[in-house]
Amino acid sequence: MTSKNRIYLFDTTLRDGEQSPGVSLNVEEKVEIAHQLARLGVDIIEAGFPIASPGDFAAVKKISEVVRGPVIAGLCRATRNDIDRTWEAVKAAETPRIHTFLASSDIHLKHKLQKTREEMLEQAVNAVKHAKKYCSDVEFSAEDASRSDLDFLAQVIEKVIAAGATVVNLPDTVGYAVPEEYGQFIKTVMSKVNNIDQAIISVHCHNDLGMAVANSLAAVCNGARQIECAVNGIGERAGNASLEEIIMALYTRKAFYDKEINVNYGEIYRTSRLVSSLTGMIVQPNKAIVGKNAFLHESGIHQDGVLKDRSTYEIMSPQLVGVSSSNLVLGKHSGRHAFKEQLEELGFTLQGEELEKAFLKFKELADKKKEVTNDDLEALIKDQVWSIPERFSLKYVHISSGTTILPTATVKLAIEQMVFESAATGDGPLDAACRAIDKITDIYGKMHEFKLNAVSGGKDALGEAIANIEICGKMYSGRGLSTDIIEASVKSYLNAINKHYYEQQLAANKEV
Ligand code: KIV
Ligand code: ZN
Repeated sequence: MTSKNRIYLFDTTLRDGEQSPGVSLNVEEKVEIAHQLARLGVDIIEAGFPIASPGDFAAVKKISEVVRGPVIAGLCRATRNDIDRTWEAVKAAETPRIHTFLASSDIHLKHKLQKTREEMLEQAVNAVKHAKKYCSDVEFSAEDASRSDLDFLAQVIEKVIAAGATVVNLPDTVGYAVPEEYGQFIKTVMSKVNNIDQAIISVHCHNDLGMAVANSLAAVCNGARQIECAVNGIGERAGNASLEEIIMALYTRKAFYDKEINVNYGEIYRTSRLVSSLTGMIVQPNKAIVGKNAFLHESGIHQDGVLKDRSTYEIMSPQLVGVSSSNLVLGKHSGRHAFKEQLEELGFTLQGEELEKAFLKFKELADKKKEVTNDDLEALIKDQVWSIPERFSLKYVHISSGTTILPTATVKLAIEQMVFESAATGDGPLDAACRAIDKITDIYGKMHEFKLNAVSGGKDALGEAIANIEICGKMYSGRGLSTDIIEASVKSYLNAINKHYYEQQLAANKEV
């Protein structure tokens, strides 16, 4: 029997999180994140919105087939067609869930849906009944619940529970609520709805006023038992409640909240890094729990305090969330054994050919860079493990640029066994290289965002470039890694082009 204090963590990184402007993940990337979420131990993974696109459908289906442990949910509007499609996508899951939603606020009913309250109620009940024919676990979300008329909302909740909803979610869709009010709202719902004990009440808070986590926790204090959240707090507009903040608030302030969750705390940091790298959404340095500065102490007084006793300025240990205390350094004399051990320490278990390939890459890097840190290793391995088949690979890039000359690039790309060369001018050196690439690939990308990070410190640091590129109306996030920043930048653009090509081939069902 599960205790009434048990709080369920519902992760929506792959659905609401992927709705972040500029973010677009392919099927492989979504599966990779879903596996990591399972390792972290979230209770439910919302894998996507299957009717939204063939790619979304494919990702939810694949995750349902291969990820074991958490419940796998698919989102759908409250219509038969959407529900049917969602069931097709989640039915292979070990424990599937259909999550259907319909707005209940007068603002949405009048302006968006042009429906009366009665019509909304009828449609919600029919949707739950239809979903229930397929799946025992059905969640209903009353979109914009926090701005809905409370008496009407209570009626909706009661009726959808009677129709078979096992979870009822009451989102603060526009991030308008404040903690005391939202907590009171949940409390009122709990007391107003007769059959409330037959379902779990869930919350889903957006961060428009920066209160998503506080609102979710206030709801938990008043009877909510499921929290919907996303890694690094990503999601529509200002994002969703941040998963890592919710977890660590419940853990660190257990004496206050007195709630139970069941996660592997040591996987928190790795999950955050994975999502950040794959989405291209960089985590702000001062972000709670997973920001680069979250456990650093700058002032002399603080450093002195921490050296005397960590509890003076530290309320949680970085090791608990998986931030490694050592950044052990390998060099060109390090052997296979040390390399393999260090990878295992970082959570990568490579074997055979994969390990050999990674070792060669490490040796190549160690030749260019005196010290190879954990951060370098992690970036190197991710680059290998996440690689998609490359239609176009970079053989050579030469840039001529300066303050008074027109930037010009010459690029050589290999396509299968053939090498193609092209040259172009541009607004800057990277623009010139991208234009030269476009001429060879005949795929034209538009750069929306571009970031360049040093993976570790030092002049010889490995550079990681992340580019958000629009191709044929769709966004792709490309990643490039090199000790040469021009090469890393060009590779990030090419990676996005390759992702687009790969997706086109998959859609056409061709061998890639
Ligand atoms: O913000 C929201 O209301 C949602 C629902 C679809 C759950 O994302
Ligand atoms: Zn949302």
